Amino acid sequence: MSNAPIGVFDSGVGGLSILKSIREHLPNENLLYVADSAYAPYGRLPKEILHKRCSHIADFFIKQGAKAMVIACNTATAVMAEWLRSEFDIPIIAMEPAIKPAALATRAGRIGVFATDNTLKSERYQKLLAEYAKDKKVFESSCEGFVELVEEGDLTSLKAFQLVEKYLQPMIDEHVDVLVLGCTHYPFLAPLMRKISSQQVAGNQELHIIHTADAVSLHLTRVLAENNLLNFKDQEYVHYFTSGDAKEAENVMSILMEQPVTIQSVI
Ligand code: DGL
Repeated sequence: MSNAPIGVFDSGVGGLSILKSIREHLPNENLLYVADSAYAPYGRLPKEILHKRCSHIADFFIKQGAKAMVIACNTATAVMAEWLRSEFDIPIIAMEPAIKPAALATRAGRIGVFATDNTLKSERYQKLLAEYAKDKKVFESSCEGFVELVEEGDLTSLKAFQLVEKYLQPMIDEHVDVLVLGCTHYPFLAPLMRKISSQQVAGNQELHIIHTADAVSLHLTRVLAENNLLNFKDQEYVHYFTSGDAKEAENVMSILMEQPVTIQSVI
């Protein structure tokens, strides 16, 4: 059982930001990654469809003998995590925007949050704000177009630069000193965000960008250890699947993983 795979999924390729971190922290683990790119973005998908997709992907992992599952998607977590946990009998690791660490890190008391509409509207996110950021000023944006940029593997074009600037500039103007990336697609745009913000924010007011990939990997490690599920044999495989076009996914995922990857199709 301990060499059974861990299933990791996202609406698309964004969850690869989590997969990368899992590979670093848990290099022995066999992994399955599903990019539900045919249905991305989840950020504006009606709840019923989100429900169908998440349950379909979880069934797929169970059929593949997965020992644990990581919802590498803030949106799917916000809407579906509780239901998935009630339906599936394996450990399920979920995501949440890093509001707590942001509240601890901000000196200005001003936090920016980039996350999808569904995440920002969710009860889970509102609870996080109420619990940890009541006394902070929080500025939010759903950054329309970011998910599509990353789905295209476009991290460096002029179009990408201008779109990132469009959403980052208002945060800089509001003197936000901590920016939470509450969508797993967005860390791939962090180098552009750093470039833009470093040209404008001087000295100790540097913008601190945080996301939860490493925290999720550490939590996964703990949960596997507690359940005697850590794999101490060598890693045998990392398999990648997409519900979208496999050829296209191969190009984009190879860019994001910084190595050639082969993709299989799932429905
Ligand atoms: N990567 C996802 C998240 O973390 C979803 C983005 C989307 O499909 O809208 O929220």
